[in-house]
Amino acid sequence: MNETPTFDRIPHSAPTAPARRAELLADPGFGRVFTDHMVTIRYTEGRGWHTPRIEPRAAITLDPASMVLHYAQEIFEGLKAYRMPDGGAALFRPDLNARRFRRSAERLAMAPLPEALFVESVQALVHADRDWIPDTDGGSLYLRPFMVATEVALGVKPAADYLYCVIASPVGSYFKGGSGPVSIWVSETYTRAATGGTGEAKCGGNYAASLCAQAEAYREGCDQVVFLDAAERRWVEELGGMNVFFVFADGSLQTPPLTGTILPGVTRASLITLARDMGLVVREERYGIDQWQADAASGQLTEAFACGTAAVVTPIGRVRGQNRDITVGHGETGATTKRLRDALVDIQRGHAADPHGWRVPLV
Ligand SMILES: Cc1ncc(COP(=O)(O)O)c(C=O)c1O
Repeated sequence: MNETPTFDRIPHSAPTAPARRAELLADPGFGRVFTDHMVTIRYTEGRGWHTPRIEPRAAITLDPASMVLHYAQEIFEGLKAYRMPDGGAALFRPDLNARRFRRSAERLAMAPLPEALFVESVQALVHADRDWIPDTDGGSLYLRPFMVATEVALGVKPAADYLYCVIASPVGSYFKGGSGPVSIWVSETYTRAATGGTGEAKCGGNYAASLCAQAEAYREGCDQVVFLDAAERRWVEELGGMNVFFVFADGSLQTPPLTGTILPGVTRASLITLARDMGLVVREERYGIDQWQADAASGQLTEAFACGTAAVVTPIGRVRGQNRDITVGHGETGATTKRLRDALVDIQRGHAADPHGWRVPLV
């Protein structure tokens, strides 16, 4: 198949009525409401990628011996389409998600999807379901591309056949409390990823492995979990689904480096660029949890925030752990956090110029 395929379009015979859609879009929450269509593309060894379709969203039939159900060859992505002020729509840096998806596939020994086909598939779905992009403040259409191993076999080996799929979900804010400060729990029981593992791939297994730690955080009354490195249990890595930044009294920023155990976030990369555009110093260097505690107490550390496509930029107000209780700044949204969040959101939503060409308008 060439890299700019024609998707077979199979329109929904009974799409959601406009009045019902408006009702759903008024308060969609996160990841609970879905649009009418989905993309599917198949991969068969020897034939390559084939049968690209936009079809009515429906259940997927899998043989019980499909390899994904046994050995977890599954990867996914998350990106958003935003309503533009002129009524059009744009994606934010889908090329980076396409690249990360290919790298995740390679790490999980799955068939890599050509990056142009990834972007094309996402654009095709947004186009088909463009009436589902919320125009509410903070709303967007969250796109979830994913791929599973469909070969029917029980031997442990890379599968020969795959199903790639994209679904879409209109969303509001990720955290129930909106964009205000969150509290995070330092997991000392569980780690997320070790050197040589799958930490920098976006595979479902990483998230399955994080759920006990997330449950521990909820039990402790915190919103999210933060993981430390697996070797020394000392260095701050990332949250369950977000990267982390620290802001210091001298105005500089720091974020953990990409050494293979954390996800290379699109939001993380964009914020590093925006901060440097603003003349701020950004270091990609390790930061220890004890240092975090000491710097917060001394006032050296003034702000901390988490970032990701889903949660955008979310201030961290408080950090708790077995023998820790850290309040960052005054537990409120800091000025640098707000400035960076506003700069990012303004570009994503078309309220500001786009000097780096990150917006990809829907044609
Ligand atoms: C573990 C993890 N870290 C970081 C991120 C942030 O990545 P991005 O900014 O690309 O959404 C995500 C979300 O995708 C994630 O799941």
